[in-house]
Amino acid sequence: MITIHVNTAREYDVLLADGLRSQAGELIREDLYRRRGGSGGKEARQICVVSDQTVSDLFGGREQTLIPALEEAGFRVTTFVFADGEDHKRMETVESLLDHLTAHHFTRTDLIVALGGGIPGDVAGFAAAIYLRGIDFVQIPTSLLAAVDSSVGGKTGVNLPAGKNLAGAFHQPNLVLFDPSVLKTLPPDRLQDGMAELLKAGFIGDPEILRTAMDLQEPTAADPGTPGQNGAAGSDAESFLVRREALLPLIARAIDVKRRIVEEDERESGSRKLLNLGHTVGHAIERCSDYRLSHGKAVAQGMLLVAEAAARRRLCREGCPKTIRQILTRFGFDLCCPFSPEDLAEAAASDKKIRGETITLVIPDYPGPCRLESLPVSELEGFIRDGLEGLPVDVSEGLIRDGVYHSDGD
Ligand SMILES: NC(=O)c1ccc[n+]([C@@H]2O[C@H](COP(=O)([O-])OP(=O)(O)OC[C@H]3O[C@@H](n4cnc5c(N)ncnc54)[C@H](O)[C@@H]3O)[C@@H](O)[C@H]2O)c1
Repeated sequence: MITIHVNTAREYDVLLADGLRSQAGELIREDLYRRRGGSGGKEARQICVVSDQTVSDLFGGREQTLIPALEEAGFRVTTFVFADGEDHKRMETVESLLDHLTAHHFTRTDLIVALGGGIPGDVAGFAAAIYLRGIDFVQIPTSLLAAVDSSVGGKTGVNLPAGKNLAGAFHQPNLVLFDPSVLKTLPPDRLQDGMAELLKAGFIGDPEILRTAMDLQEPTAADPGTPGQNGAAGSDAESFLVRREALLPLIARAIDVKRRIVEEDERESGSRKLLNLGHTVGHAIERCSDYRLSHGKAVAQGMLLVAEAAARRRLCREGCPKTIRQILTRFGFDLCCPFSPEDLAEAAASDKKIRGETITLVIPDYPGPCRLESLPVSELEGFIRDGLEGLPVDVSEGLIRDGVYHSDGD
């Protein structure tokens, strides 16, 4: 078992091992015992397992491993399941979850377990942060993205009509349990989303992640990634599928990058912003696509766009965007961004990270570390325009029709 101890105001362990779901009840019980001392472990009577429909069908039934394991450890288990997707990461879902908790008489000594990708994690964590002014929760990530990123660090929240993640709270989990066998059912496309965050950790703080990842993934025809060339997302993501067993050490390294940064700046007043590499523009891309382009793919485009703009403005090494492009291309990312600088800048302007007249951007400088640069909001459109000029041009037509993004040409 790999253990990563996160030393934030509330300390906790991230445990990674095959078969961990069958030990979840005991591990949660032991953790409560340590935290609450003496009889503390016995106090928690109820657990609400929160997941989306897909994850619930795969891992959240009474015939599967997790719930029986929780019950065997003495917990009474209720489940709260909501529909998949970013549309459901919203206040109404949290409100229904809070109603569920009150209906089942959850008290401060009971717990929430987030079972799923980043969306159930963010929703469940936010409910845990605000129910009775805060109850304990445990993250059981099932997507690669949730394993390497969203389940660690304590950011929870939901989207508002005005933008992504605009309402939320910092609330660290008690425990994070990652059982890599869950990745077997994760669609290649979703694996690729998580890969974007895993590679992001490499660009931010651990080049070894990038070297090992490149060794694991065989070169493809699109590899040289010359401008004007579109990456073949489907086939490359498929071929990556076979190597998912080899991912565990990389996942642990990526979590460790996040651990280091979160320990240094838990509430994101400074260096934690580095974790937003590619995210300001990525969120704008997601928004412009009406959330039809998923988070990881938008972040991949965002990382390259920022690197291209930075290189044009001599804010980073000349070769930095080329390396980023090569790595992202090897993992099959489609790096064509079909939106205009005007639309992207407008979407980015609603980002919660904008403070007054300036925006903080994370500038990659591979192989050196990333750094934070403040940019006047009035210059954002020009910066995005510079970045878009370096992105590949889409060879297929009609990605945007009637103002709507069509990722699959429908
Ligand atoms: N809180 C944070 O620090 C943080 C960090 C990064 C991203 N996020 C958020 O995370 C979200 C994206 O996370 P995500 O990509 O995991 O989204 P997600 O939770 O929607 O999962 C993606 C899809 O994969 C399915 N899925 C998950 N695990 C599966 C498995 N093992 N097998 C088969 N299908 C599975 C889900 O049902 C869903 O349909 C975004 O909302 C983003 O804002 C939060």
